Amino acid sequence: MKELIISPSILSADFANLASEIDMVKCAGAEWVHIDVMDGHFVPNITIGVPVVKSIKKITDLLLDTHLMIENPEKYIEPFAKAGSDILTFHVEACKDSKHISEVISQIKNLGIKCGISIKPHTKPEAIFPYLDEVDLVLVMTVEPGFGGQEFMHECALKIPKIKERAKEGLIIQVDGGINNITSKICTSLGANSLVAGSYIYGSNDYKKAIESLMI
Ligand code: DX5
Ligand code: ZN
Repeated sequence: MKELIISPSILSADFANLASEIDMVKCAGAEWVHIDVMDGHFVPNITIGVPVVKSIKKITDLLLDTHLMIENPEKYIEPFAKAGSDILTFHVEACKDSKHISEVISQIKNLGIKCGISIKPHTKPEAIFPYLDEVDLVLVMTVEPGFGGQEFMHECALKIPKIKERAKEGLIIQVDGGINNITSKICTSLGANSLVAGSYIYGSNDYKKAIESLMI
């Protein structure tokens, strides 16, 4: 695996041409594809469901990085895993208590895929400290989840070193929201090793150039 993982978010892709949009980011150097699942409850937007993930799995060998922005994640983990997600990231804010969080982590890991845990901008990093040894990935949201194309919230990036300090070897620290050629550098210099970018990549007219500009 590369030292810095770029995960283009298809939220800003042309959904009528999803297969070619995914193929184009692969040709441009991406190894992952970020799939934003929204339920209209946890966030005020509705996006992608299980059948779409199943279809994406058939047309690409990129790793499917599925970001669940949904209530009751436990109800949908198995369907999204069976559809082909390689990583399932859920939000701590969608869980009732620590028992619920631990159960969701075990559920994901028992399905043999990687588990990610995410925090919204107003959630303190301390909320996930107890789980850092159990998960494969931490997703620090740098915008309020719900929509692509929002402005990067600088204060959120300050959570990265606090998480990194306590991280086990190999933990992936991912950021999502408002990532471009400038904010990417802020995040990587603070310790992030995976960048999600939607509008910056899919809104550009040269995906390869956009992805390369995130990597340097
Ligand atoms: C926001 C999503 C993001 C979104 C990022 O709720 O989780 O993955 O697609 O979009 P940009 O990169 O445009 O901020
Ligand atoms: Zn996302």
